Amino acid sequence: MRILIINGSPKSKRSNSYKLTCAFTEGIKAVCETDIREIDVNKLNLSPCLGCFACWNKTPGKCVIKDEMSGVLDEILAADIIIWSFGLYYFNVPSKLKNLIDRQLPLSLPFMVKESETGGHPSRYDMSGKRHVVISTCGFYTTKGNYTSVNAMFDHFLGKGRYETICCGQGELFRVPELSGRTGEYLDYVKTAGEEFVSDGITDETREHLDELLYSKEQFEAMADASWGVERESGEKAAEDFSFTKQMAALYKPSSYPGKDIVLEMAYTDVGRSYQIVLKKDGYEVRSDNFTQYTTKIETPFTVWKNIAAGKISGTQAMMKKLYSVQGDFDLMLHWDDYFGSRKKLRLKKPKERALCCFCLSHG
Ligand SMILES: Cc1cc2nc3c(=O)[nH]c(=O)nc-3n(C[C@H](O)[C@H](O)[C@H](O)COP(=O)(O)O)c2cc1C
Repeated sequence: MRILIINGSPKSKRSNSYKLTCAFTEGIKAVCETDIREIDVNKLNLSPCLGCFACWNKTPGKCVIKDEMSGVLDEILAADIIIWSFGLYYFNVPSKLKNLIDRQLPLSLPFMVKESETGGHPSRYDMSGKRHVVISTCGFYTTKGNYTSVNAMFDHFLGKGRYETICCGQGELFRVPELSGRTGEYLDYVKTAGEEFVSDGITDETREHLDELLYSKEQFEAMADASWGVERESGEKAAEDFSFTKQMAALYKPSSYPGKDIVLEMAYTDVGRSYQIVLKKDGYEVRSDNFTQYTTKIETPFTVWKNIAAGKISGTQAMMKKLYSVQGDFDLMLHWDDYFGSRKKLRLKKPKERALCCFCLSHG
């Protein structure tokens, strides 16, 4: 099966959407033999369409511009599955990808399709056996209401209901190692979708998981706002450890509230600053002053805590090596994942693994 990935992100392989695309093709590869080709639109030499219609009259099927587009058209014609992979830009596809889409005009015939309500052109080639998949991430918390233009464009040029879509909001989270518990879980579902796509089609169960938000709107927006490292009111640069602590706090799940407020104090010994995260019934508060008596205090260099959160060191090992220490109530540490875990569901194979990773932030 020949698969063509058209990676339309200006970030090439660093694209968030491309991570989903790779998971999807991993799934396909798990069930059938594949020949995967990739077009990195960002690296192509493609001029914009001149609008001269020479590809319809003077040189039917051939563009007058001599650049890399003729190779792209050959790849499109040879593929069985075409994956359109891109991040949402101003509610549409990034400009270089739009240019590639425009430059497909030689694949159409000039005549009008009679049956179309909106107007259209028939294909010059038999494209009926090809399957298309649109894979995209966007920056807002949800895809709802943000993909109207994208859907309208693909409905027109691929045919409504004739392509599969996997679109995911909160796309920037795919490059945050601290959240790989949750994003990894999502990528597993995308992989399953790839397997199912080439078998009997994506199941309703997988679709439900794909349509689920990575995090709630409130959690995501708190993390996103803190991630810029800039104070909301003043626009001034914020200390990295403060932004980090706010992002960590945003992961708090009030469903784990134990019946009384917990005051978690983070004392970063290398930067000489402390913060308190108060875990309340309906939310949390991050303090940099006006401290109250802590329930649990973690004394750690900020660099160590960051490495634990990013999965570079295991929390258990770091504690055994005395890289950080805990004072006060240890219960929070034992139930860390319940309070702050980034996975939606803990999908651990053996119950014992839970105890090992429970105070390792998102990584055991
Ligand atoms: C110029 C620009 C425009 C964007 N427009 C939108 C938008 O309209 N809606 C949205 O939700 N995210 C928007 N984003 C965020 C991206 O869609 C998001 O970061 C996405 O994950 C990028 O995907 P990629 O890494 O695959 O390129 C925009 C980002 C940039 C740089």
